[in-house]
Amino acid sequence: MSTPLESKSASQRRGTPQFVDVTLRDGHQSLAATRMTTPQAMRVLPMINDAGFAALELWGGATLDSCIRFLNEDPWERLDTFKKALGGGEKIRALLRGQNLFGYQPGADDLVISFVREAVESGVGIMRIFDALNDERNLQISILATKAYGGKVEGALSYTTSPVHTTEYFVDFAKKLEAMGADQLAVKDMAGLLYPTDAFDLFKALKATTSLPIAMHSHSTTGVAELNAVIALQQGIDYIDTAVTPFAGGTSHPPIEVMIVFAEEMGIDPGLDKGLILKAQAELFKIFEELKAVIPQYGKFYRPVRYEDVDRKQVNQIIELVAKQDKAAIEQAIPLMRNLLLGLGYPKFDDKIFEAQVPGGMLSNLHNQLKEMGQLEAMDRVLAEIPSVRADAGYVPLVTPTSQIIGSQAAFNVIMGGRYKLVSDPFRMILKGEFGRTPAPCNPEVVKLVLGGNEQPLKYRAASYLTPVMEDEYDLPFAKTHKDLLLYLLFKQSAETFLRKKYGLS
Ligand code: CO
Repeated sequence: MSTPLESKSASQRRGTPQFVDVTLRDGHQSLAATRMTTPQAMRVLPMINDAGFAALELWGGATLDSCIRFLNEDPWERLDTFKKALGGGEKIRALLRGQNLFGYQPGADDLVISFVREAVESGVGIMRIFDALNDERNLQISILATKAYGGKVEGALSYTTSPVHTTEYFVDFAKKLEAMGADQLAVKDMAGLLYPTDAFDLFKALKATTSLPIAMHSHSTTGVAELNAVIALQQGIDYIDTAVTPFAGGTSHPPIEVMIVFAEEMGIDPGLDKGLILKAQAELFKIFEELKAVIPQYGKFYRPVRYEDVDRKQVNQIIELVAKQDKAAIEQAIPLMRNLLLGLGYPKFDDKIFEAQVPGGMLSNLHNQLKEMGQLEAMDRVLAEIPSVRADAGYVPLVTPTSQIIGSQAAFNVIMGGRYKLVSDPFRMILKGEFGRTPAPCNPEVVKLVLGGNEQPLKYRAASYLTPVMEDEYDLPFAKTHKDLLLYLLFKQSAETFLRKKYGLS
């Protein structure tokens, strides 16, 4: 049995790394196709909240889209329910895709302002904002709006690897976010590409650059996020994103049950109620079973994990290697950490991702897409094509929406029997700069082939070319409230279908 630690006030813990829980947003988005319902989440939210996490990621990302398309739920009502359950929104974090909001294409400035206002006023306390291209101009409006309406801004670096994505590049981007008014920063490693020796360099460099709090968001897909988390603890990174088993590990995040043991052995008081976390874990296993139809890992991995299951001798070996602050020692710690996690029943890691750079969600999307096309046997060739399509598109990070765009284009290149014989509209938009400035210039030959000779990429901030949408009059029987209208303007047809159903309109 575990004894709950005394919960200390945030001020007492300032300066000590703290854990953030993402189970009820990224946890089920990564492992269960974002299908956890609000009633399911509500069965564990009070326990997770009372456990004492620094923040809870509960909204944003794919949850809005999933609510209206698959769960027949109003995402605004979900936010309201969570806020009421927590007695306020201060700890509620949401993931916002910058100018793309919670959708897949850049929105007009007035839509971004209005949407962000409604989100902050409805309960989002901390807005984690990223841009898929790390074009800081795409974060401008949402950062200003979040702050104007009283929210805290966490500016995120979309982490990826390429010849242009060096530590200096990310440090430089962090400085831009700070100058733009971010209250805190996040390293958003959506594909698990942050290799531990690079994590060491990056965390150290960021800590030396900024005094803003920094969060680490690393997916466990490649089996190194947990080691990154130990490096983060050691380097004094302020917030570490974790999830509760079984919505942890694999394409999700480091399991809190394991990270607590590491923190304790490092002499860090995580300020968490360990008993409550195990209670939440037990309930989450029930929900995991209820969602098994959409969980590929169901039945193959995962079992209840207690703190005493985590071998403290192995934990200390890893901690000692990390404490050396030396890259050879960090390399040695990688297999030790992977074995520790495999031994506890977490999913096998996928090393191939370091080459293909494909986030977990993108893999399953591609799989489904190829299956629908009856081309599943082309999967390996499509994966092999991705790095070259990505290079042609100026080394864009692979995160929503660019991950889907690059993945689909790679699939077209393979299936159509030639590169760029068929080009999707969104891929064309990337080449035109309509998503923003790509990290490196796009391949000029591909630009010429796809766009023809005369077209120049956009010069100014991409959304500055978009016409306002909130000034128009809308006479839509299914949009009865301002929130309904916002959903419609962002999600169009799928929002209309949802709202018609909601109001009993045919
Ligand atoms: Co994530």
